[in-house]
Amino acid sequence: MIRIVKVKNYEEMSMKAANIIVGQINLCPKTVLGLATGSTPIGTYDQLVIACKNNYVDFSKVTTINLDEYYGLDAEHNQSYRYFMNKHLLTKVNIDLHNTHIPNGKAGDIEAECRRYDDLIESVGGIDLQLLGIGHNGHIGFNEPADEFVPNTHCVSLGESTIKANSRFFESRDEVPKKALTMGIKAIMQAKMVLLLASGEEKTEIMKKALFGPITPAVPASILQLHKNLIVVTPIDLA
Ligand code: F6R
Repeated sequence: MIRIVKVKNYEEMSMKAANIIVGQINLCPKTVLGLATGSTPIGTYDQLVIACKNNYVDFSKVTTINLDEYYGLDAEHNQSYRYFMNKHLLTKVNIDLHNTHIPNGKAGDIEAECRRYDDLIESVGGIDLQLLGIGHNGHIGFNEPADEFVPNTHCVSLGESTIKANSRFFESRDEVPKKALTMGIKAIMQAKMVLLLASGEEKTEIMKKALFGPITPAVPASILQLHKNLIVVTPIDLA
């Protein structure tokens, strides 16, 4: 079932998303949160930090599992997703950092790392609430447009549009890693709730395709139409 919550702007989207996450953790203190990076969730993370500082939410029993990591960047690199998550959320709330998980982009054996990540997701009982952004090409995590949906965690070559979009965070386009490790479609679809956020007019077309177009691996987010509990919070006019 898809529920679309139309909001006024990015700030309201961030407040609503944070409220949903706070509600989830309060109902279930041992929540497993699936988390995303990128520009979209930063406001949500800011609101979660404020909620935690005001004692509206307690992260001490929460586990987090991030969607993806660049291949070849170690955790200390300032464009790694571990660095991003620590900076925007994880070191600012009362979570035990041992319970925060991100694929290891520097793993020697990438296949083994992907299997380890899937085993980890299984061992914590799957994801309770998965937060998602969406790429301009319809990717979720780094599940790029492809001929088929890839179920498990895997190493992916980033598409040109993704490299271009992400180059805004690097000194130059050449510095953007060309590969990433990403959670597959199965763990995302098995999450008990998916919270999809999108803002900015440039995402209008892809959001319409994802939510109302054909379900196809050419638009990876379109698979979410089959999710049993999808909440979309967006200021984008989808009518
Ligand atoms: C990030 C991720 C990506 C982003 C997407 C949108 O962990 O999984 O799918 O959610 O690229 O990025 P922004 O929010 O920067 O537009």
